[in-house]
Amino acid sequence: PADVADDLVEVLLTEEQIQARIAEMCREIERDYAGENLLLVGVLKGAVMVMADLARELSLPVEMDWMAVSSYGTSTRSSGVVRIQKDLDTALHGRKVLIVEDIIDSGLTLSWLLENLRSRGPESVEVCALLRKPEAARIDVDVRYVGFEIPNAFVVGYGLDYAERYRNLRGLGILSPSVYEHEDD
Ligand code: PRP
Ligand code: MN
Ligand code: MG
Repeated sequence: PADVADDLVEVLLTEEQIQARIAEMCREIERDYAGENLLLVGVLKGAVMVMADLARELSLPVEMDWMAVSSYGTSTRSSGVVRIQKDLDTALHGRKVLIVEDIIDSGLTLSWLLENLRSRGPESVEVCALLRKPEAARIDVDVRYVGFEIPNAFVVGYGLDYAERYRNLRGLGILSPSVYEHEDD
């Protein structure tokens, strides 16, 4: 089969750069939550890689739970309509919650999720996102930990997909427009 790396026009972040930044973020999180019992909430499916690496790098007692929400479907554009496909198993009352996301694009998914989780009576809810696209923001979201600010290009890899593909790339790359230019045909 063809190498999926051929579908990228540019590697934006290597595996090593991602892992080094995650380690830095973990040191900050460890300082901020010292002595606490933290609940990490990963947003399926994009956040699986960052959740797995962040949780193992943290030297804090953590629980992990997952929510599946989707606003993109198979398109490259956000619909802004968020659906819960899988809810948490954990009650949030009195908990310190850290949402773990791969990317904040328009911010619509996260802003909806923050309001939803805050209505469940947690002690606190903060956000850790590996990537943020400042130029794509359609709503301002307060994010405590951001790994990298990236340009407004369609990126894949390290959990991020196009039509469910490329999530298993170890680094992050810009997808070649030739892969999705026939989307509206
Ligand atoms: C992607 C990404 C974020 C969200 C960001 O998820 O993983 O969760 O979009 O976009 P926004 O800031 O414009 O709302 P997607 O809906 O594609 O689901 P997935 O994680 O299963 O790929
Ligand atoms: Mn996602
Ligand atoms: Mg997606």
